[in-house]
Amino acid sequence: MTDNAFRLAVMPGDGIGPEVMEAATAVLAVVEKRHDIGFSQHVVNGGARQYRDTGVGMTEEGFADATRADAILFGAMGLPDIRHPDGTEPAPQLDLRFRLGLYAGLRPIRAIPGVPVALASPRAAEIDFALVRESTEGLFASRGKGTLVDDSVATDTMRITRDVTERLSHFSFRLAERRGRRRGRRGVVTLVDKSNVFLSFAFMRKVFFEVAREHPDVSAAQHSVDATALDLIRHPWDFEVLVTENMFGDILSDLGAGLVGGMGFAPSADIGDEHALFQPCHGSAPDIAGKGIANPVAMILSTAMMLDWLGTRHGSESCIEAANEIEAAVDAAFASGSVRSHDIGGQDGTGAVTRAIIDKLVAGARR
Ligand code: NAI
Ligand code: MG
Repeated sequence: MTDNAFRLAVMPGDGIGPEVMEAATAVLAVVEKRHDIGFSQHVVNGGARQYRDTGVGMTEEGFADATRADAILFGAMGLPDIRHPDGTEPAPQLDLRFRLGLYAGLRPIRAIPGVPVALASPRAAEIDFALVRESTEGLFASRGKGTLVDDSVATDTMRITRDVTERLSHFSFRLAERRGRRRGRRGVVTLVDKSNVFLSFAFMRKVFFEVAREHPDVSAAQHSVDATALDLIRHPWDFEVLVTENMFGDILSDLGAGLVGGMGFAPSADIGDEHALFQPCHGSAPDIAGKGIANPVAMILSTAMMLDWLGTRHGSESCIEAANEIEAAVDAAFASGSVRSHDIGGQDGTGAVTRAIIDKLVAGARR
């Protein structure tokens, strides 16, 4: 094994998951060859269909494969019609976050040149912030543990721990430091909460500002979640790094994706101290599955995030370069107008968008 050899667990999943995964692995193959990176890919099946057929969304063997991998590349899992008897859906992607301790859900929200944005202001082209969604506790800690009494009262309980809040805060400050360095300005992390009302959030806020003292090079701020929803529409270009509880992050990250072209353009990473999983923010999109029209960009940009994470973690410059090249190729493909995906009113399907991005990647190599 050279320094540039990595073991990937590849989980295509349900619906459009396998379609966008095919696109991502095609892009990966290009940078792999060019940068002499070696990925051994291990496909792990799982998802709603597997749950329907076998009663288990992901086998223990599948989880073990994920645990052994250097990184996990994930499509989408879940189908709305396949549910547990209590009405919830099997969600191996949530199980993976909890079991592997993937507490930092990183969702970059960036306007891609040439992709229509939702807001009319010309400043919308400047949108470029990162949302960090805590992904192992918060309201989701109650998943599978809520109570229903006499068919008349249902409760789910919010859980915030010092341990995870500290690690999440450090992650966010380090991220802001790195982004600040790249952009030549001081980074700022804004905690998004509801600390004016709830004890759990007041505690989260206290711990966040304690951690902030250890990162004097980055500014720390706090904003209420309702005001944040407002300001994400009024002036999203002013945000830099937002960090928030699980449920709030779930909601705000979809809002963020809506600002910059929709779910097809929203990548994500679920990062812990030992493991990380990379997947588009979108789900299995059963309404368009099998039609060849899914936008692969979110999955391809998630793959770039994986390369960046592997490169940073293992000191591999070529992985980091490959990540930057993929991002640049996506930008170039859309900026030049050579491609327009279905979700933004174009005619290009999954294959055409993928080919356009690969063309730009290859062209970049000749420059
Ligand atoms: P969804 O993200 O699958 O779809 C929402 C809308 O966005 C649909 O109209 C869909 O066609 C569109 N869309 C999503 N991705 C797209 C892409 N790449 N290109 C073009 N259009 C795209 O969310 P929905 O419908 O709420 O959930 C469907 C299933 O996926 C459910 O079973 C849900 O539980 C699951 N899900 C799984 C996730 C995961 O695996 N991480 C995340 C979110 C939902
Ligand atoms: Mg979601």
